[in-house]
Order: sequence, then structure tokens, then C-alpha cells
Amino acid sequence: ASYDHTGHEHFMAKEIHEQPEAVERALRGRLDPRFHTAHLGGLNLEPREARAIRRVKIIGCGSAYYSGQIGAQLIEELARIPADAEPASEFRYRNPVVEPDTLYVAVSQSGETYDTLAAVQELRRKGGRVLGLVNVVGSAIARECDGGIYLHAGPEISVASTKTFTSTCVAFALLALHLGRIRDLSPSDGRRIAAGLRALPGQIREILAREEHIASLAQELSRSPGAFFIGRVRGYPVAREGAQKLKEIAYLHAEAYPASELKHGPLALVGPDLPTVAVLPDDDLAGKNLATLGEIRARRGPVVAVAHTAPDPKITENVVLVPKNEPELDPILLGVPLQLLAYHAAIALGHDIDKPRNLAKSVTVE
Ligand code: G6P
Repeated sequence: ASYDHTGHEHFMAKEIHEQPEAVERALRGRLDPRFHTAHLGGLNLEPREARAIRRVKIIGCGSAYYSGQIGAQLIEELARIPADAEPASEFRYRNPVVEPDTLYVAVSQSGETYDTLAAVQELRRKGGRVLGLVNVVGSAIARECDGGIYLHAGPEISVASTKTFTSTCVAFALLALHLGRIRDLSPSDGRRIAAGLRALPGQIREILAREEHIASLAQELSRSPGAFFIGRVRGYPVAREGAQKLKEIAYLHAEAYPASELKHGPLALVGPDLPTVAVLPDDDLAGKNLATLGEIRARRGPVVAVAHTAPDPKITENVVLVPKNEPELDPILLGVPLQLLAYHAAIALGHDIDKPRNLAKSVTVE
């Protein structure tokens, strides 16, 4: 009840700025410096059971679903278990095959989203084992699951979620590290990921210090009719969440595409009036991403890049630089500037930041 947005104009701004501490809380007491793994007391999953998992299926709605896409990539990369994410409502209505050796993960900030809750109940009815990645302790979804990870992000009031998105990605990284280390992730990779996780809060602070620059890019963006968001593999779910934020609070039409899909349709719309926000992780797909940006520039499409190193100024001078972590964890950092981009675009347009039209913080009806 005492949670207010003192010191910030809106809850959303406050929650964006609380991310370093939220991540620290998500990590607190969970990293094991001796065995380079993560301890997750609430999982209720014996190592023997964890080793028998053949697949991970993640469900959630909205930003929770997009964080699940990042989570699926982390689990595949670190634990080498096939994993994917699906909107909870779609999952529930297609009468999914529930498998005993699949680990189901339900993601929900509030723990009260009806579609996610109903999907969890259906899974449990059919014998599925479900973990919850939930922020609100004791919420309906948390109670319904077999075990899980609490985010400990603190209250989130703004309808557009920010800190809980980031905290969920961190919780997925912990889960992936935990599963990886009892399967075949090496101690040195475990140490590398643990060190990367510990570096996140400081690096998020570095990004937040660039807010003024991001706000100036957002002002320009707010004058366009909408934007494409593109990324490849690790960058793609980040682009999806970035587009979601711009829609939610700036009411600008924003659509995310895998960068490679641009030439299969959306490129027809690219021109001087339609900017593209490009998420550019510094990985082995960087060259391909730059080639895509070249195609956009050839059609005089404006580009805003969120990247670890500035691309050729001929491609764009509108760059937000993001510190480099480990490649697997970079998506967590690349998402932060996109929150500020949407926030400042919405401010420039004069919208209600914390209570956007037509949306509710948690949708507890079907
Ligand atoms: C609503 C909110 C979204 C949120 C989604 C899932 O639609 O407007 O911001 O991502 O619900 O909420 P949850 O509490 O389940 O994470």
C-alpha cells in the first residue's frame, strides 16, 4: 500500500529504474559459487527427474509469453533441452498432447491471468508437471503449480510490465543454469553464466544512464505512423517485446519480424516514412543483420539500432549502445532500451503511461 512513484513521474519510470535491484533480488542466494550452478529451493524437482525431461513447454500471455520465448532459448542453449513458448490461451484451446517427460512452465507476473491459470489447471488434470515463474507470492497460479521460482521483483503497478519482464528472463537463466549443470553444461560455462548474471545489475544501470539519448530517439520515433522491430534468433523475442511496449503505451502500430523474414513480405512497406528498430546482438548473425539493414537503407527506411557496437554511420547514427554480457544473456540487456523508447514515445505523444486505454494490468476473465 505504501508503494508510490515518488521521485519518478510514473510507476512505469520507477519500475524501469528499479530493474537493477529487481535483478539483484531475483539472484540473491541462488548462485552457487562452488559448483557454478543455481539453487532454486521451490522447484520441487529431483535431479533424477530433471535429467529425464525431454522437452520444455512455456506458456504465458502478453509480455509473459515473450519472456517465455527468451526463456526457451536460454533452456535450449544452456541445458540442451528442446524448448518453446506458446500463448497460454492458444495452448489451452488446441487440446495439447500432455507428455509425462515434458516440463511445463507457466509465466505470470500477477499469477492471476485467467488464460494462464486455466491452461495450468488443464495441464494438471492431464498429469503434466508445471512450474510457475510468478511474481505475486501465493497467487492463484503459484498455488496451482507443482513448484516454481518467485521473481521477488516487488510490486509492479504500471500496466506495461518492465521489471517483471526482465526478472522473468533472469529466472529463466537460473532455471537453464540449474538444468544445464545437472545435465551437460560444463563447470566453466556454468561459471561464465553465473558471472554474467552477477554483472547484469551494473550493466542495466549503464543503460539507464543513457535515458536522455533514448528519449531524443523516442521523440523522433513518436512522429512516425509506426515501426517495424526486427531481430534474429536471440534478438527476435526482444524485438517482439519492444513492439508490444510501443503498441501498449504509445499506441503506435508496431510489428516485430525475424530480420530474415523482412524480405518475404514486410519489406514492401519499408520506405522513408516507416522506421525500423533493429535489435543487434553481437553474435555470429551480426553480419546478416547488417545486410538486412543495408536493404532497408537502400529503400531509405530510417533505422534505430540497439547494439553492442555502433554500426556503420551510413546505416544509422541513431544507436543505443548496450554493454556486452555473455551472448546467452545479452537479450536481457537489449530489452531495456526498448522499454525507455516506448515510454518516451508515449510521453512525447501525451498518453496516460500507467493506465493505457483498453488494457488491464491483469486479465482475470476469459
Ligand atoms: C495483461 C497485461 C500485460 C501482461 C499480461 C500477462 O494483458 O496488460 O502487460 O503481460 O496481462 O500478465 P501476467 O500477470 O500473467 O504476467
